[in-house]
Amino acid sequence: MIWAGRVTVDGEICRSIDRRLEPSAHGIALDGVSLCYRKYLYIMMNKPEGAISASNDSHVQTVIDLLPPSLRRKGLFPVGRLDKDTTGLLIITDDGAFAHSVTSPGKKVFKTYRATLDGALTGADIQYLSEGAVIDGGERCLPAQVAVLDAENHIYEIKIREGKFHQIKRMAQSVGRRVIALERTAVGALTLDAGLRRGEARELTERERELPLIN
Ligand code: URA
Repeated sequence: MIWAGRVTVDGEICRSIDRRLEPSAHGIALDGVSLCYRKYLYIMMNKPEGAISASNDSHVQTVIDLLPPSLRRKGLFPVGRLDKDTTGLLIITDDGAFAHSVTSPGKKVFKTYRATLDGALTGADIQYLSEGAVIDGGERCLPAQVAVLDAENHIYEIKIREGKFHQIKRMAQSVGRRVIALERTAVGALTLDAGLRRGEARELTERERELPLIN
């Protein structure tokens, strides 16, 4: 591309392939389109049902397959996992240290879910989940925060600070209920952009990048 004269540096065609540049100090363009160098990418996706939280799979569509070409590059992976049938906020990055800081159990970042159940939770159920439910297999969860969003339709906001396998579904089971629909609405203080439709993704702003770690 450089030999073909398609690359410009600060508006001048650059024909030298060994020229060293500082990406933040030079305006580099390919075919007239300015390139914006990013060491890492930080993406928010509104995960749709049916896609799996993995980087690649030969049979099933992954969240990475859904990214638009402008956001695709090698090394991207989802930060934590949402079940195939769970929708909502998923962070995708290629920055391993960032991902670790969000998912590390020590950080105890709150994940917020909107859960539609097959029936109402009683006051005692909410108390039980708030004190730390024991889920199947005898594992005890950390205390969760449970709020009623829509009593008539059995919709609850549930905040948890861990990421056990199928945790919300198993917590619901521990009080005799089944999850009918599950959407993640926030990770720490980062909330799902209401303007993103299911399957859509966009880069996080610099300010948003700090939010997943703020509880
Ligand atoms: N809890 C679940 O049961 N499923 C998810 O996808 C996330 C939390």
